[in-house]
Amino acid sequence: MKLIKLLANLGYGSRKEVQAMIRSGWVKDAHGQVIKDGAAVTHEEVRFREEPIDPPAPLTIILNKPDGFTCSTEDPGETIYDLLPERFAHRKPGLNSIGRLDKDTTGLLLMTDDGKLLHRIIHPKHGCLKVYHATLDRPLEGHEAEQFASGTLQLKGDSKPLLPAPLEVLGDMEALVTLHEGRYHQVRRMFAAVGNHVVTLKRVSLGGLKLPSDLEEGAWRVLTSGELDQVFG
Ligand code: URA
Repeated sequence: MKLIKLLANLGYGSRKEVQAMIRSGWVKDAHGQVIKDGAAVTHEEVRFREEPIDPPAPLTIILNKPDGFTCSTEDPGETIYDLLPERFAHRKPGLNSIGRLDKDTTGLLLMTDDGKLLHRIIHPKHGCLKVYHATLDRPLEGHEAEQFASGTLQLKGDSKPLLPAPLEVLGDMEALVTLHEGRYHQVRRMFAAVGNHVVTLKRVSLGGLKLPSDLEEGAWRVLTSGELDQVFG
């Protein structure tokens, strides 16, 4: 791919801006030689202001979403895109979150520019399980696991009952819930339906992929191919 297009697609600037950057000598090869703007180059060769450039598409990243960030740019306030380098917002193709977490839900979130992958993960047919760690306002009463597993629990406003959702009690006011589907505010509404209230909610796994313990809240990194396999594993 031509250098200008490569850098513009990665969000380093408009084609015009990128051309000016190249002419200013900001773009070099691995040996420190300035690259000319008409050059056809491989991605690995390019350095932008002495740094390797961002990964090309298809790109999938894993993010440990903090509290207070929304997943959609249409919502007001801070979004998950504010946690990434500013130029990521200008990548073509752009990154989208794979499913959504509520503003006040934390934890594992994948983002990708690969539409097919996105659909493979969120499509109910593939059944990528999602596990949430919930802390609660009131002690569990003992009947909740049975209700969640029943396949008959009906949430207000929904036409169909929920699929069975295993509940693992971790403490009086703490549990893990496994979902096979992803309805609006599902975990919070499930606990509301059994007379409780979710205080904090964190997604701890997606398919067979666990939130890495070394990924701090607010941090992200490129998902490895091994981790992607775990999502489907
Ligand atoms: N269930 C919820 O209630 N909120 C989320 O963000 C995810 C699942």
